[in-house]
Amino acid sequence: MKKIFAILLILVFAAVFAVGCGQKQTANQQSSQGTTNAQGSAQEDAVERIKKAGKLVVGTSADYPPFEFHQVVNGKDEIVGFDIDLAKAIADELGVELEIKDMDFKSIIPAVLTKTVDIGIAGFTITEERKKSVNFSDPYLEGGQQIITYKGSGVKSKEDLKGKTIGVQISTTGEEEAKKIEGAKLKQFDTVDAAMMDLLNKRIEAVIVDFAVAQAYAANNPDKLELVGEMLDDAAKAVVLRKEDVKLLEVVNKVIKQLKGSGEHEKLVKKWFIDYKPSN
Ligand code: ARG
Repeated sequence: MKKIFAILLILVFAAVFAVGCGQKQTANQQSSQGTTNAQGSAQEDAVERIKKAGKLVVGTSADYPPFEFHQVVNGKDEIVGFDIDLAKAIADELGVELEIKDMDFKSIIPAVLTKTVDIGIAGFTITEERKKSVNFSDPYLEGGQQIITYKGSGVKSKEDLKGKTIGVQISTTGEEEAKKIEGAKLKQFDTVDAAMMDLLNKRIEAVIVDFAVAQAYAANNPDKLELVGEMLDDAAKAVVLRKEDVKLLEVVNKVIKQLKGSGEHEKLVKKWFIDYKPSN
């Protein structure tokens, strides 16, 4: 079973590169659009502001292993994950320190818009709705939404969710997917951890999150949780930025391109999505 997941994951990530190429056009269009809309001075400000402050402030929701999650490292609670390594690479490129601000997922885009944080990195799926208010970087990962249930729930596919309750994290694409499931009830949570707690306690029948995240929670609770059904969407993940911050967008895209070109991206995928063993 584990092997099947591993193979599936590899396939999913292999698709990143294909999609990455296919979406170049879209990403370029996105940035040129940003350029026309943005003020020249405002563009410079984000990069300059960050350099002046000596730190890049990244908003995330650290309830999403292996994208971002809390882990005790050398007796100290730290936020780690694929997205955090990506954030580090961006901070390095800018020559500044990295500051991670942990918040509810629904607060990240508002925090980006109000400059409470410089960028958002939290396994964000690129959506048309979000594009109305923020810019997305080029995609850095690919993945879909997945149903996770407790063993013995009787749920084997999304059709079985009629009349059942699905836990979702507020403002996520998981919530969007759950809304599409006919006859299912929704229960909203600020964090994925809280949703999973309800699932483990059998207060809800399913949770919808990114595939790799479902896999991480199931690996943590192999006797209790399992993934069921097909992936519900298949979409690219990207960094969230303010539309005005076109220069910063260029820096972020440069880093993503460098990571992919140097083989570092592949290493990070292996580190966090293939070799990663949750241990909570
Ligand atoms: N990929 C989904 C979305 O963009 C879920 C992301 C949730 N991220 C998190 N760190 N909790 O809506």
